[in-house]
Amino acid sequence: MTAVNDTATTLFAELTGREPDGLWSAPGRVNLIGEHTDYNDGFVLPFAIPHRTVAAVGVRPDGVGRVRVASTFAAEPVEVAIDELDRLFPTAAGAEPAVPEWAAYPLGVAWALAQAAGVAGTGVDIAIASDVPVGAGLSSSAAIEGATASALNDLWGAGLDRTALARVGRRAENEAVGAPTGIMDQMATMLGERDAATFLDCRSLEARPVPLRIAESGLAILVMDTRVAHAHSTGGYRERREACERGAAIMGVPSLRDVSVADLPRAEELMDDVTFRRVRHVVTENQRVLDTVRVLGEKGPRAIGELLVASHASMRDDFEISVPELDTAVDTALSAGAIGARMTGGGFGGAAIALIEADAERAVSEAVTAAFADAGFGAPHIFTVLPSAGAGRDA
Ligand code: GLA
Repeated sequence: MTAVNDTATTLFAELTGREPDGLWSAPGRVNLIGEHTDYNDGFVLPFAIPHRTVAAVGVRPDGVGRVRVASTFAAEPVEVAIDELDRLFPTAAGAEPAVPEWAAYPLGVAWALAQAAGVAGTGVDIAIASDVPVGAGLSSSAAIEGATASALNDLWGAGLDRTALARVGRRAENEAVGAPTGIMDQMATMLGERDAATFLDCRSLEARPVPLRIAESGLAILVMDTRVAHAHSTGGYRERREACERGAAIMGVPSLRDVSVADLPRAEELMDDVTFRRVRHVVTENQRVLDTVRVLGEKGPRAIGELLVASHASMRDDFEISVPELDTAVDTALSAGAIGARMTGGGFGGAAIALIEADAERAVSEAVTAAFADAGFGAPHIFTVLPSAGAGRDA
């Protein structure tokens, strides 16, 4: 039993006075490379991290068709009738969710899963606990979705495969919570494997594990959470998406996946400077993901440093989604000897990662912490992660 399993089990007992039927969990993720490419039908290379969200779930013994959710994120549980879910969701554009935001993730999953599988769903109680840092860009929300979707898939006999469950999670996020995100996070949490990243084509949703050999190569991946809060449903993320759609429309293609590096000179002639730079980020980032997969296979993880650094520069200068804290973390890690470093996730705050020699963990962490103090930033939260298993039933 992990501590998070214990917390979820205890919370379930407090909520219901019973033992749960089972425990299901799903991890957060780090994206190694491929940022803001997912909603452009492009390529991503995320991996699941050891931090997990656990859902303790049980079918209601009284047969009443209601879903009740409790979580360590909130003092009060939320309860709705299953036949009311279709009235609550989708949330109208621009409106607040009809339930407290934290509850829109699991209840949105219940709604989307029942629809996707064409099942009615029986009444269930759900207790959620997590050690995935929230607001750090490590997909705490996809972890809630993945744990809940895995549980309901089993208990409702829905029979959906992992990709279908990722789609359910994404629909909850887009249409119940109202965050206009792509599918990377949900695929990463569903498909993660130990010591591998998931290479995902976001157009076909074909995915394959790419061995990373981090520990075996004497390396480590450091997560540097800046503790600058980020918010996807607001402003910047949506604006970047719109710029990408504008760019694709100008190029006359369905999405930026269909624009190659060789097309960029023509794109530059056709677009205003800002739209062009947004397009250039996505087009070159797709290429960097392909290059990273190739280099990992040919030369191993020590050889991908430059690609990580180029990705960060593109996000900082072209896509403009970095913040001073992220740049400081990346620059300092590199000066302290990191092989590569970049911000990870949606941007505007959250975390950066650094690929380091395992024995450099202390030196790099201390250098970043000192640089934050010198710059007058709040202290970062720094820890290492290894690529870990994806969602599933734990007990
Ligand atoms: C967030 C979104 C993802 C993806 C990343 C940026 O994590 O949830 O869908 O767009 O930002 O790569």
